[in-house]
Parts: sequence; C-alpha cells; structure tokens
Amino acid sequence: MTLVNRYNEKYQTAHIQHTIELDAIALSDLELIGIGGYSPIEGFLNEEDYQSVVKNIRLADGTVWSIPITLPISDEQAKTLQVGDEAKLVYQGETYGAIEIASIYVPNKEEEARHVYGTDDQSHPGVRKLFERPAVYVGGPVVLTKRQQPAFADYTFTPAETRAIFAEKGWKTVVGFQTRNPVHRAHEYIQKAALETIDGLFLNPLVGETKSDDVSATIRMESYEVLLEKYYPANRVQLGIFPAAMRYAGPREAIFHALVRKNYGCTHFIVGRDHAGVGDYYGTYDAQIIFEQFTNDELGITPLKFEHSFYCSACEGMATTKTCPHDAKDHIILSGTKVREMLRNGITPPPTFSRKEVVEVLIRGMKQEVAE
Ligand code: ADX
Repeated sequence: MTLVNRYNEKYQTAHIQHTIELDAIALSDLELIGIGGYSPIEGFLNEEDYQSVVKNIRLADGTVWSIPITLPISDEQAKTLQVGDEAKLVYQGETYGAIEIASIYVPNKEEEARHVYGTDDQSHPGVRKLFERPAVYVGGPVVLTKRQQPAFADYTFTPAETRAIFAEKGWKTVVGFQTRNPVHRAHEYIQKAALETIDGLFLNPLVGETKSDDVSATIRMESYEVLLEKYYPANRVQLGIFPAAMRYAGPREAIFHALVRKNYGCTHFIVGRDHAGVGDYYGTYDAQIIFEQFTNDELGITPLKFEHSFYCSACEGMATTKTCPHDAKDHIILSGTKVREMLRNGITPPPTFSRKEVVEVLIRGMKQEVAE
C-alpha cells in the first residue's frame, strides 16, 4: 500500500488566522498522519468517517480502521470556526501544521466509549481521557509542517524509512511488536518464537502518552538496548519508536496497532494476551478474537496470536498451556504491574521473569525518578 505523505516543511502558515491548540494526543496523531503512519488517513476524521469507525470499525469507504483519530476543540472555539476555514495547529506556542476544516461536529462520547472501549466507565484511563478532552470535533485533511524534536533520535523513523531499512536488510517477512512495557521473558519468548519463522523483528515500543504508572519511555528504551545487545542477534532485530499515545482500548487498539505496523512495513504482528488492555475490562484473548471479523487481505497484515506465556519450573523454560503439560503450581506468572510493585518495594524480580540486565536498568531508573 502506498503511504500518505502530508509532511511539508515549506507549507506557509503565517497568514492563517485561526489557531487550534493541540493536546499531546492530537500532536502525536498529527505527526503520525503527516509521516504516513496512519495511511490511508490524511487528516482528523470528518463526521462521516468518525461515525463509521465508531460503529463499523471501518472508514466510510469500507477500509478497516478501528480507533477514531479526532481533533477536539471547545464549544466556544467551535462557534468561531466554519467548514472551509483553515486553522493553524499549535502546541505550546509552536506551529506544527494546519488543517483544512471539512467537518465540525458534536460527538456522542458515551457511544464512542461503549463502541471503542467496550465501556463508558470513567475509571478506564482511555475513557477518562476521552471525556476530559473538549466536546466538539473538527475533521479535515492536515499538513504537518514541523516534526517534533525526537526524544530518541537514533530510533525515530518514518514508515518510508523503516520500509527501506527492512528491504536493505533483505527481510521478506517482518514481525511487528507493540509494547508499553520493558521486555520481560514472556515478551522475549513470543518474539523469538515468531523469529523462528519470520525474517526480522521490528521492536516498536510505544513512547507517546501513557498512564502515569507505566514505566517511563526513557527507562524502557535503555532496557531495550541492553536486552537487544545481550540476547538478540543484531541482524534480525530493528528497534524503532512508535510515537502514538496509548488508548488502552484492548481489541480495537490491537487492530489499530496492526494497521499502523503494516504501514511501517511489517507483514506480521504479534498479539498476545490482553493486548493493549487495562484492568479487567477485556477478556484475555478478546484482542485476538476481534481479528476474526476481518480477512488478512483487507487488513494487509497477518496477526500472530500467542497464548499467555509463563516460566515453567518443571519444563525449565518458557512455555504456554499449548506446550507445557504441568500444573499451575509449576508456572511462574508475573505481570508488568507485579514487577513494578516488586521494584517499588525493593524486591528484585527473578530471572525467570526478567533478564538481570533489564532489572538493573529498571532499578536504576526508579531510583532516578525518586531522586528527581
Ligand atoms: S501493550 O499494552 O503494549 O499490549 P505489553 O507491553 O504488556 O502491553 O504487551 C506487549 C505485547 O505482548 C502484547 O501483544 C501482549 O499481548 C503481549 N504479552 C504481554 N505479556 C504476555 C504474556 N505473558 N504472554 C503472552 N503475551 C504477552
């Protein structure tokens, strides 16, 4: 699929009268639209596409798309804008682009929450965020005029760049891996299981806005570097950041994550247990089941679905119930949440859960955060 390119540094914005203030989510969405990460989307969704994405998981033309990419503005500002106007897109005083307004509409957020997040409970961090954002949406094609200063310059690529990197490496098949966590043994296990049959791994951690108790992106990036250096063959892995915000939308977000990784050049995408989930809002495999609604052809990428993996002390290795016959008492199941809790209480997570080099980075990172 051809990539959208809405990035134009030379595009003139000085004469544009209207200004829309972006929040961190809209800023990352603008950047991703601009560089083609959200292809075929060329702007914030207009009302017709929005309604269709919310209700049918498709754009109005039938293309699969699962997360509404929206630009919220206040009621008062909406009164000053009209369809056909152009507005500058500004974040903290800097202009990052412009939008040609094609649609101004009031969403039904309860409906959006129920369809996209499966709940309208505001204890859900994604739903809370949805309701916190302003009440009116503006849709229309955008131009990105300025890229964000990359926090991780060595690992910042456009989809066109990663496609070229994969081609250069001679990878015919590439598996994408989304994560908002340090890579623990379970993650490593499923990545390497995939690598046994796929040419290359694109480790693509999300570094946009996450909830405050997730491990910071800076610490995570350091943990990925040590892990890759020690435990992965350099010619089979590419690390690159995914600058989007986390929505915690479980199944809907798994589809979105897969579609974006297709744009980055992946042919396959890993979906494990409770992908992009939070709390108990989604069933363990809901994010895998949703893929059954679509053919791989219409998605353009093949999901690789993995069971919940754990360390089995009887097998003396990582396993899942598909490969291990032993009782639960032999299974060491630790979650990212549990690890954070252990670290906070000064307990070192065992090597069966996380490589010691990763744990060292996490402990150091936590101490730094406390000191700051
Ligand atoms: S996510 O919110 O970015 O999906 P996380 O970083 O925990 O969270 O997960 C990254 C990927 O690994 C997801 O596809 C998730 O389903 C998968 N995963 C995480 N832990 C396990 C596990 N123990 N077994 C199998 N898959 C897992």
